[in-house]
Amino acid sequence: MKTVLITGGAGFIGSNLARSLNAKGYEVIAVDTLSEQIHGPYPQTSSLVHSLEGVARLVKGSVTDKAIMTDLLKSADVVVHFAAETGTGQSMYNVHHYSEVNIGGTTLLLDILASVPHTVKRIVVASSRSIYGEGRYRDSSGAFVYPSQRREADCEAGRFNPIDPRTGEDYELCPTDENSKIHPSSVYGITKQVQEQMVMTVAPLLGIEPVALRYQNVYGPGQSLSNPYTGILSIFANLIMQGREINVFEDGLESRDFVFIDDVVAATVLAIEHQNAAGDVFNVGSGCATTVLEVVDHLSRHIGAGAAFRVSGEFRLGDIRHNFADLSHISDRLGYQPQVPFAEGITRFAAWVAEEGPARDNYDQSLVELRNRGLMKGVSS
Ligand SMILES: NC(=O)c1ccc[n+]([C@@H]2O[C@H](COP(=O)([O-])OP(=O)(O)OC[C@H]3O[C@@H](n4cnc5c(N)ncnc54)[C@H](O)[C@@H]3O)[C@@H](O)[C@H]2O)c1
Repeated sequence: MKTVLITGGAGFIGSNLARSLNAKGYEVIAVDTLSEQIHGPYPQTSSLVHSLEGVARLVKGSVTDKAIMTDLLKSADVVVHFAAETGTGQSMYNVHHYSEVNIGGTTLLLDILASVPHTVKRIVVASSRSIYGEGRYRDSSGAFVYPSQRREADCEAGRFNPIDPRTGEDYELCPTDENSKIHPSSVYGITKQVQEQMVMTVAPLLGIEPVALRYQNVYGPGQSLSNPYTGILSIFANLIMQGREINVFEDGLESRDFVFIDDVVAATVLAIEHQNAAGDVFNVGSGCATTVLEVVDHLSRHIGAGAAFRVSGEFRLGDIRHNFADLSHISDRLGYQPQVPFAEGITRFAAWVAEEGPARDNYDQSLVELRNRGLMKGVSS
């Protein structure tokens, strides 16, 4: 029986993956700090942690702890490296900590694998669509372009789409493929880029097959409802359940590629098992762009009819406008096809949220933190 070590294994994707691998007959070890931001103040009682019972051996500890990681790596055949701090906005003012956990954890992992006898054959590292920054567009001549960060003055003027400086016109949005320019616009994105490049570069020298998965926005039952720094679906769902108004940033037409957790787990299992995955980098998404206003519409219909929202024109520095995945590569090489359309996934998510009820509310605090640091701009509430 193969043993898979999942770092960050008590998290949203990790715990779902652990259940899937356990059902397929793998032995699963999860190492996780059980961070309060994700699991709440009493992590041992969190539903994610409970969901690992009988599924995985859970070790409470950090990927930055050399003794723990050295011990765990000795018995693994496959490592799935998920442990990370994941808040894009938060990363802009917790630079050292994000770097220490995300980059430091990865470098330590590789150092241990380089110096201690082990049986690890493959490492799957969680990268992110955030490494692409704004993603891929086309200009009026039909050429692909990769716009850099939007100008604050344009956003202040309500022009949120990336603009061609030569013509003053909006670029045309295209799906982002794996050969697109890597130019993250957040510290979080930079750490994901470094994690990916570090694993892809060092692992082959150690005789280990690396695979990097660039996840788009993952959602579904089990995602943290209490973490105010990630996941607009959770944030909006919480506000709706509390009867509070949703502040929709920009003009609400910004979009993301929302991919359902079951599809992400299926793609990750392919990355662990498929021979074609070795040494390669893949987008994992739904391949569809969904606007924030569409998200609000779906959630209001499923959670509370007529949820209140206000399109505020506010914007966060470093946020991108759009990004959705071109899935040709993962489809051709691994046979991955997303199975859960957004309309179905959001129904399943909303049903789960309704059962869970509202989580403790620290969303306002997260906005205050951004405002105090000058990272929230636009028409103020
Ligand atoms: N969820 C998404 O939309 C998404 C998108 C792109 C990439 N990713 C990446 O996928 C991975 C998993 O994401 P997720 O949604 O499951 O996040 P999550 O926050 O639910 O899970 C991360 C887990 O890592 C743990 N953790 C944090 N610091 C740790 C440390 N120092 N040592 C050990 N464990 C630690 C947390 O307690 C948490 O359980 C992350 O690397 C994330 O960057 C996620």
